[in-house]
Amino acid sequence: MSPVHAPQHAPAEGSALEDVTLLIFGASGDLTARKLIPALFQLWNKGFLSDRAAIIGVARREKTDEEFRAEMRAAAIEDQEGDGAARWERFAQLLFYRRADLSDHEQIERLKESVEGIETQRNRSGSRVVYLATAPDLFQPSVEALDAAGMIPRGPEKERLRVVFEKPFGHDLESARALTESLSRLLSEQQIYRIDHYLGKETVQNILLFRFGNAIFEPLFNRTHVDHVQITVAESQGMERGRGAYYDRSGALRDVLQNHVLQLLCLVAMEPPALFQGDYIRDEKLKVLQALRPGGSGGAIDNWAVAGQYATGEVNGERAVAYVEEDRVPAGSRRETFVAMEVQIDNWRWAGVPFYLRTGKRLPHRVTEIAIQFKRPPLNLFTTVECEGDLCQMVETRPNTLVFRIQPQEAISLAISTKRPGMQYQVHPVEMDFEYHDTFAVELPEAYERLLLDVMRGDSTLFTRSDELEAAWQFVTPVLEAWENGDEPPELYASGTWGPRASEQLLRGNGRSWRRPTTETEPS
Ligand code: BG6
Repeated sequence: MSPVHAPQHAPAEGSALEDVTLLIFGASGDLTARKLIPALFQLWNKGFLSDRAAIIGVARREKTDEEFRAEMRAAAIEDQEGDGAARWERFAQLLFYRRADLSDHEQIERLKESVEGIETQRNRSGSRVVYLATAPDLFQPSVEALDAAGMIPRGPEKERLRVVFEKPFGHDLESARALTESLSRLLSEQQIYRIDHYLGKETVQNILLFRFGNAIFEPLFNRTHVDHVQITVAESQGMERGRGAYYDRSGALRDVLQNHVLQLLCLVAMEPPALFQGDYIRDEKLKVLQALRPGGSGGAIDNWAVAGQYATGEVNGERAVAYVEEDRVPAGSRRETFVAMEVQIDNWRWAGVPFYLRTGKRLPHRVTEIAIQFKRPPLNLFTTVECEGDLCQMVETRPNTLVFRIQPQEAISLAISTKRPGMQYQVHPVEMDFEYHDTFAVELPEAYERLLLDVMRGDSTLFTRSDELEAAWQFVTPVLEAWENGDEPPELYASGTWGPRASEQLLRGNGRSWRRPTTETEPS
């Protein structure tokens, strides 16, 4: 494909630089150092964040501004001597650290004064964003502390404060509802930003542009033409960086399927919105979630949902320990590290089309893709017999498959059958590819860059609304409960394989099979 214009690097002419005050609660955590500060640094580098902005890390540990800056520097820039390092020194002037215990009202009062002091000194009076990168049990107390300190503006001023909630937002349907309900007493829905970082990925945003910005594919996205859809979020990693304790309370269904996978499903299955604006898009996603049903013949959960847990094995040439041997995972844990499901979307467009979803840790490599497999031609006119030695095999035209490769090696490809040059009609499968890397000579922005910028601008399109979230919980909660209360442990799979046998059987019953997506960097 021919190169097109490089994407926007700096704000369009005339657009204001975002000069908010950003308070990060839970600033000692991994997320702040690994994702948030690097994303903010990039936004500042690209000219989206002004020198008047203030980023204030808040946590319980004692730390000076200088110590905080040094810690963030170590995490955010790879080449400590290069050009980035010099720019970092300027950016670091935007960073501050304040110690506060959210349960202590006096400390929150002091925090408020301190924030106001920083804002006055920087001549700022714009909006504030509070990013809750804390453990979920601190969401409600943090908002209460803000309220008690008079930091939640009301009435026409209310949009001057936006509060970002990291996932998980709730633990199941009941707790998600209870959290929404108790927060709604203090914050309006317009002030609440629930992050699903998948929605900030460039390739995920492109799903809607691809579908509704081209006329030739959309007429095929329905039950007349699509045989089935597969959505895979595979990870090769296990419980690095001490994640075992969090993960063991969560599991693959809560951690990735309930949010990232279902959001991908919504984007690929939703109807076109009346306008390309936040609530119009979220209304359409909600309808998909409301139409979700167990796949296949439904009935018992085992008929359409599979849980797995990784055992020892080998991933990318290295030995991997079993989940139950991981740091901070209780011995004998029955937590699932893999989920596969067959679901249906019971609406006019998709009735009868199976959607196969899977996600898991310690799979052969990290790859996220959505594959739409179309129906075969009504008549099979072309069949080739190919022989290697004594072994002969029939080659038929393959079903056309459209693949959104979300990461890595981001791409969109269409598999088609062609005629191999020669005197006979010999079938040859080929792929038409659009690869981001070939077309755009730039690094794709990190999801958090886009999402942080959107919060600062007050655009909630890429954030999850409470009704969407509840609909997603409503669908997965019976599965969670059945697994948590049932007697059957998840089926083990060797690390470095594509999950338990039951996952293969889920498709095999219908004469289908899972794709085996490969990557260039890791062996298949
Ligand atoms: C997070 C999950 O939301 O998404 C992690 O908590 C998972 O367990 C991560 O590893 C995957 O995100 P990405 O962007 O690396 O695909």
